[in-house]
Amino acid sequence: MTRLQPDRRHAIHFTLNGVAMQGDAEPRMLLTDFLRHQIGATGTHVGCEHGVCGACTITIDGALARACLTLAVQIDGCDLRTVEGLAPSADRLGVLQQAFRRNHALQCGFCTAGILMSLDRFLRDNPAPTESAVRDLLSGHLCRCTGYTPIVHAALEAAAELAGESRKKEETDA
Ligand code: FES
Ligand code: FES
Repeated sequence: MTRLQPDRRHAIHFTLNGVAMQGDAEPRMLLTDFLRHQIGATGTHVGCEHGVCGACTITIDGALARACLTLAVQIDGCDLRTVEGLAPSADRLGVLQQAFRRNHALQCGFCTAGILMSLDRFLRDNPAPTESAVRDLLSGHLCRCTGYTPIVHAALEAAAELAGESRKKEETDA
């Protein structure tokens, strides 16, 4: 990485939910602040700002990351996905989002963006998770409202629905 000047703004080129974007930031700027205040992507929430609550969780090049522990200049050349990219279209929620709605898996919603991002990534790698695996994943997120049970139900319901969809696709392709 080239040496950064601490008092200068540096150009950042990246992809956000499939769209090529650019911006600039001083080396000390957090990715959360960059996304929310410079790019206007306010779906990513900020809680603790030290990596504990999980509200700011996004993916960077496909891997889960805490945006509050990442500097904006570190995403130069990266592919970012945030909660704004979860719905397949502006008027349709994704399977996991619909399951959250059906199960009342949110109240104030402050934790929800980060939890959705973690679960979305988790369900791709674990198409048939156990309840305890889901609870284990959720241990990386703080939710003050729900007691977690409806979130677990939503995750398991979404996993079953996604598995049904992929079975149907395999049968159609065969
Ligand atoms: S705001 Fe990033 S983990 Fe809490
Ligand atoms: S729904 Fe309020 S913090 Fe989780």
